[in-house]
Formats: sequence, structure tokens, C-alpha cells
Amino acid sequence: MASISMKNIVKKYGDGFPAVNDVSIDIADGEFVILVGPSGCGKSTLLRMIVGLEDITSGDMMIGDRKVNDLAPRDRNLAMVFQNYALYPHLTVFENIAFPLRLAGASDSEVTEKVNAASKTLELDEHLQRKPGNLSGGQRQRVAMGRAIVRDADAFLFDEPLSNLDAKLRGQMRSEISRLQKRLGITTVYVTHDQTEAMTLGDRVAVLKRGILQQLASPRQLYTNPGNLFVAGFIGSPPMNFLPAKVSGTSVELPFGTVQIPQDKADKVSGAAANGLLMAGIRPEHFEDAAVVDAAREGSTFRAKVDVVEWLGNEAYAYIPFEAPDEVRGQLEQLERDLDGESLRTQLVVSLDGTSRIAEGDEAEIWVDSSKMHLFDPATGENLTVDRDNAGYIHGGAMEEAAEQPAAAG
Ligand SMILES: Nc1ncnc2c1ncn2[C@@H]1O[C@H](COP(=O)(O)OP(=O)(O)OP(=O)(O)O)[C@@H](O)[C@H]1O
Ligand SMILES: [Mg+2]
Repeated sequence: MASISMKNIVKKYGDGFPAVNDVSIDIADGEFVILVGPSGCGKSTLLRMIVGLEDITSGDMMIGDRKVNDLAPRDRNLAMVFQNYALYPHLTVFENIAFPLRLAGASDSEVTEKVNAASKTLELDEHLQRKPGNLSGGQRQRVAMGRAIVRDADAFLFDEPLSNLDAKLRGQMRSEISRLQKRLGITTVYVTHDQTEAMTLGDRVAVLKRGILQQLASPRQLYTNPGNLFVAGFIGSPPMNFLPAKVSGTSVELPFGTVQIPQDKADKVSGAAANGLLMAGIRPEHFEDAAVVDAAREGSTFRAKVDVVEWLGNEAYAYIPFEAPDEVRGQLEQLERDLDGESLRTQLVVSLDGTSRIAEGDEAEIWVDSSKMHLFDPATGENLTVDRDNAGYIHGGAMEEAAEQPAAAG
């Protein structure tokens, strides 16, 4: 097993387009890291550069303390688990797992020993003499992983391994992969565009957009402290609501009324607020039907006309349309394109308790925990209110410069 360290990795294909643009990620020995982002953001390219299936244009790729830029895939000692598992239908499970060992000319006793050990870990003992065609999807996935295990690979690399499975099987496989990775303690890099997989599997998640690493953080950090509009809109379902906001001190004027934010948040945006409109980000679950909220709970309330209600039993989603000025609308449309068509229409999505009686067409009183609000700079998309100590790595840019300004000025 080994750590994987990417230093300023760039990949330009023939047409000069940087598919991966100056990405640096340090993956610790035994860590599970997810590469996530919309289609075309460079996830597969980055993974293929780790394995050696794609040349690196510039930067250093380190596995353990070896620089592997110029090593052939077979010399990197990594195991790639493909989407379709690539099992041999005419071979037994035993021989499928044994395949890389046979290829390397291992002795029969070594083969037996290693396959049996892998099979024990993977709970495949009773299936060793069966053919892949008779196995469930989950069992097949385990056979594919067994083949990676017997090679004593330094790391596992997965490229969307579950994308062509149905939702139920995907859920099972997800927990299976998670369990195995923890048991084996093997360094793992996993590509997906599914944010549920990203959130549930990863120790840390790297969010990419057009070849650039946007944020690298734990799932919890990403969810509670997204560094910019893109990450905020990508992580979470239904997605975070974005609203035009005018800030003055601790008062924030939203399309539905004025709410209060904590002083420390107000301080962080005081410079930017003077320039006019900001973008507020509030997750659906930070709203509630005011009628079911404990009166002692701190927050603000406003009245708004509810357009549609989707009642799911344990909770309900209510939709509240609003008007957005051009400045905000333009940014939302750009965000929608960046997120690959995820629809962020100018409507508020609020999650209500299942006991809420709010119905379609109601002029409802809605409660909001405005202390959870994020405020973004609509021009750069950066989260001005982010708690940097709990946000992992955030792609720099205007915000770092802005942070330096007060020091320079005073
Ligand atoms: N062989 C290639 N030649 C030229 N450009 C390529 C090649 N492979 C990928 N690209 C470009 O590089 C960018 C990143 O592609 P990549 O396959 O890494 O994306 P991805 O994040 O894995 O997307 P998806 O979720 O669709 O699999 C895209 O813009 C793509 O068009
Ligand atoms: Mg891909």
C-alpha cells in the first residue's frame, strides 16, 4: 500500500485544451478519495494519469516516494477496477481471481494460498467453483476486487464502477465497497459523478470543474462549508437555494423579507456588501413550516405563496417562486450550465416536516434558520462567509486576494 501524491498535474490533449489544469492532491496511505464533478470535468483523465494509461503533460505523479510519470502501467503496481468488471465467463471464480497470478507465472501453491486468502476476505468461498454468469452483480464486483487484491496492489482505482447498475443494486454495492475498503485499508481513488456516492464513500472528496480542483475536503466540510457557488450547487439534493440578497449590518434583505444573520457572518461580508447585491445560499432543510417549529428556536419567519407541495410522508417539499434581478439570474443560468443541466429555476425549495399542513396555493408562514445562510459574491461565485478552518482546500482566486486587502490597506 502507498500514498499517492499529485503535484500541479496538467493534461493537455492534442487540441491544447487543458482537460486537467494544475491539480494537486495528496492522498494518504489507506485513504479513500473521491473525484467528482459534472461530465467532462477531467475525472477519468486524472485517474488514467494515476494508473499510467494517459501521459502527463506536466507536474509530478508520486506513488509512495517514487515518481511514476514515466513508468508503464504494469510497473506502477496499481489495480484498476473497471465498470464492467471484465470477468472471463468461461473461467471459474477461482480462476478469474487467479488470473493475474497465472499471468505472472506464480506457482500452484502460491496461487491457491493467495486466492483462498482473498476469497475469505471477500466472502466468496462458497462460490469459487461457479462461473461469473451465475453470480449477482455484487458477487461479480467482489470477484473483480479479488483479482485486484491477489496482486497486492498499492492502490485501487475505480472509474464509475456502479454507473450501469440499477438504483437498488448501486446502494448495496456502495456499502460493499465501503466495507471492503475499510477492511483492507487500501488506498483508493474513486471517480463518480454521483454525489451520493461521493458523500457516502469518501474520506475526502475532490470536486472538479473544467479541469480545475474547486475544493478538497471531507463530505461534511463540503456540505456545511462549500467554498464557492459551484460546490454549493453541486453537493446536496435538492440543491441549495440561491437568492438575491442585500446586506446591511446583520440584516439581509431577501425576496421574501428581511432576516438576521450572526455578527461574525455580517463582518465577513461587510466589505463586499457595500458594493451592492450578494447571493444568499440556504439549504432546503434550513426552512420549516413556522407552525411546527418550537417557538423557542432561534430564526426568522416570512410569509410567501406556495406554488407546489410534494408530500413524501416523512417530509414535504414546498416550492415558492421568486423574482430575481438580471445580475443574479445570469449567475444562476451560468451555474446551471456548469452543473450540467441541474435545474436551478428561480424558485425556493423548502423542506417541511411531514406533519406540516401547508398546501398548494397557501400564503404560508415559513421559518428559516438564517444563521446557516451562506453569502456568495455574485461576480466571482466565492463564498464570502465560509469557515476556512473547516473547509479543507478551496481553490484560491479573488477571495484570497480579498483576504489580503485589509492587511495591505491598514
Ligand atoms: N482522447 C482525448 N482527446 C481529446 N480530448 C479528450 C480526450 N479524452 C478526454 N478529452 C477531453 O478532456 C476533458 C475531460 O474528459 P474526461 O473523460 O476526463 O471527463 P470526465 O470528467 O471523466 O467526464 P465523464 O463524467 O463524462 O466521464 C473533456 O473535455 C474531454 O472532451
Ligand atoms: Mg469519465
